[in-house]
Amino acid sequence: MLAKDSKKKIILTGDRPTGKLHLGHYIGSLKRRVELQNSGNFDEINILVADDQALTDNWANPKKVRDNIIEVTLDYLSVGIDPDKSNICIQSGIPALHALTFYYMNLVTTQRLSRNPTVKSEMQMRGFSGNDSDDNEAGLPAGFFTYPVSQTADITAFKATTVPAGEDQMPMVEQCREIAHRFNTIYNCDVLVEPDILIPENSAQRRLPGIDGKAKMSKSLGNCIYLSDDAKSVKQKIMSMYTDPTHINIDDPGHIEGNMVFTYLDAFLRDDSQFADYLPDYKNLQEMKEHYRRGGLGDMKCKKFLLKVVEEMLDPIRTERAKWENNIGEVYDILKTGTDHAVKVTNQTLSECREAMRINYFDDKNTMVNDWEDWLKESHQ
Ligand code: TRP
Repeated sequence: MLAKDSKKKIILTGDRPTGKLHLGHYIGSLKRRVELQNSGNFDEINILVADDQALTDNWANPKKVRDNIIEVTLDYLSVGIDPDKSNICIQSGIPALHALTFYYMNLVTTQRLSRNPTVKSEMQMRGFSGNDSDDNEAGLPAGFFTYPVSQTADITAFKATTVPAGEDQMPMVEQCREIAHRFNTIYNCDVLVEPDILIPENSAQRRLPGIDGKAKMSKSLGNCIYLSDDAKSVKQKIMSMYTDPTHINIDDPGHIEGNMVFTYLDAFLRDDSQFADYLPDYKNLQEMKEHYRRGGLGDMKCKKFLLKVVEEMLDPIRTERAKWENNIGEVYDILKTGTDHAVKVTNQTLSECREAMRINYFDDKNTMVNDWEDWLKESHQ
């Protein structure tokens, strides 16, 4: 057996294609993925467009999911995910994931699944009460309830060691580790890998609030800046951003906490040289914040600076996106190649799982015929 530290380092992460990706996704995960991709520290990087998972709460609207597969892939490519280094694939095209999900269902109880805090809060948001009901809209759809099991299949099928994801995915990775451990114990093997989650380091990156200052940036709240927004709408959104309602006149003292302009500067300021470039009145963010607190620094000036910082980041993303948008055929080919590759890798894991369970009947006659003959002999002695 290979020593643990000689094990391949494999990343699997993914997104549900239910909408375009926004600044919250960028700072919370995409930027990190690109860094990990370019670090050279990983042997394989897989990014899964989780369309089957998206269907667990969009079953009546497959068109929405389908359209967003391309949107999300364009977002990946435009931020610097490189298809030569990262394998982008579509979940529904990978049959081994479905088969593994079905076996893993046996290794978890509904009681355990009910305790998943992320699923609980998602149920609440979607009005899936969990009360007895024959109506999917009101009750809890079994597919949605069990998606953490399918996510376990996603992760383990690629033998991922590392899952870069947001904090809200911690219960999923925990569930995955439990199922993988149970599988290896029950079937007395070491086929499945128990992965570690890799969450963003700083809190401004972990949970970016929306431009209205409310909760998380999210499509349903309509408070997003999208990676695909044009310069005009980014400007309009930043200019309308929630700041400090008590800061009425420029000379009034201002608050930094809960002020989205400063929250976003904390998250997106690349380095102090951006002051020299765009706002030479200050050497760094600390000085700017102190002036705002004292009074005398107006919101408009702060917003204009933030706009420069955000545009410096978004402009190259926009340019890259335009290139791919004019080349959708190539995007399609990338997804096809990525999915074909994923099918091979995950079929291999599925075979190993079936072998460990000794249900690989047609690969190995022993599992049926010879075992049967042995049993006959023994029982007739
Ligand atoms: N649950 C993730 C989300 O809501 C998407 C996802 C599906 C995923 N499969 C995954 C994330 C595997 C990490 C690993 O965004």
